[in-house]
Amino acid sequence: MADQAQFQDRLLSLGLARVSEAAALASALLIGRGDEKAADQAAVNAMREQLNMLDIKGVVVIGEGERDEAPMLYIGEEVGTGNGPEVDIALDPLEGTTLTAKDMPNALTVIAMAPRGTLLHAPDVYMEKLAIGPGYRPGVVTMDMSPSERISALAASKGVSTENITACVLERPRHEALIEEIRSTGAAIRLITDGDVAGVMHCAEPEVTGIDIYMGSGGAPEGVLAAAALKCMGGQFYGKLLFRNEDEKARARKAGITNFDRVYTRDDLVRADVIFAATGVTSGSLLSGIRREPGSITTETILMRSKTGSVRRMSYRSPIGR
Ligand code: FBP
Repeated sequence: MADQAQFQDRLLSLGLARVSEAAALASALLIGRGDEKAADQAAVNAMREQLNMLDIKGVVVIGEGERDEAPMLYIGEEVGTGNGPEVDIALDPLEGTTLTAKDMPNALTVIAMAPRGTLLHAPDVYMEKLAIGPGYRPGVVTMDMSPSERISALAASKGVSTENITACVLERPRHEALIEEIRSTGAAIRLITDGDVAGVMHCAEPEVTGIDIYMGSGGAPEGVLAAAALKCMGGQFYGKLLFRNEDEKARARKAGITNFDRVYTRDDLVRADVIFAATGVTSGSLLSGIRREPGSITTETILMRSKTGSVRRMSYRSPIGR
C-alpha cells in the first residue's frame, strides 16, 4: 500500500511539472512584448486549466492575491478534480512579469504542493530574506547578524576569503545601504532587477550559478516558494515579515499570523515534504528559457521532491501548428 501511495505521489509530481510547463508555454508568445499584464494573464489561465486536471483536493494558499482582487488562482480557491489527496498549493504563474515583458533573464513559472495545512499562508507583504546553499552547519548565518558579519561567517565556513563570496541582491533603492555594506567586505554582488525565487534558488548550486548567499527584502509569498525550492535542493532560508502599515498587519492577522517579529526558518515556512516545479520562461543560470523553433517550442523544467531529495530536469518539445 505504501508503495502504491509513493507511486501516486511520483505520478502527481509529474503532473505538477505539466502545470508549470503549460504556464510557460502560454507566456511564450509574450516574451519581450512589453505587456506584463498579458503575459501574466496567459500564464494564470494556462496554469489554472492544467491544475484543475490534477487528481488532488487542492487549496491555493499562495496565489494571485485575495479573492476580491484576483479572479483566478486567488487565495482560498479550490483546485484540482477534488479526487485525491488534500493539499496546499503555492504558485506564481509568472515569477518575473517584467523580466518576461522585457526579455530579461530568470523569469520562471513556479508551483509547489504539500499536505494540507503545512505551507505558511504568507500575506502579500514584504519579507526580509536570507538564504545560503547546502553543506553549511545550521545557523552559520543568521538574521541577527549584520550583512558584513554574514559574509565573514560564510567565507570562514567555506574556507575562502570574503573576496571569493558572491551575494545576490534585488536592485532597489531600499537596498542601497545593504549593497554598500556587502561591498565593503570585498564580496561581489550579482544585482537582479526582479525574480527573487530564482535568486534564492541560485544559492543551492553555487558551483553552477556562482552565488553563495541571498539577502534583502522581496515578496513574502515568493519567500514561501523559495523556501519550498530550498527544502528540495538543500540549503538554509530565513524570512521575517515586514509591515509598512496597519493594513498590512491586518492582512497578516487574517492569514492567522499573530507574532509579527518571528523569524521563520525554511521548515517553518514549509512544514512537511513538498513537491516543487519551475519552468524557465527566459534563460537564467539555473534553467534554460523557452526556445521557439519552426514547428515547436521547447521548455526546461526542474521538478523536485523533498521527500527523496530528487531533482529532475526535463526538456519538453511541444509541437505547434499540428
Ligand atoms: P512579479 O513577477 O509578481 O512582478 O514579482 C517580481 C518580484 O521581483 C519578486 O521576485 C520579488 O519578490 C518582488 O517582485 C519584489 O518586489 P518589489 O518589486 O516591490 O521590490
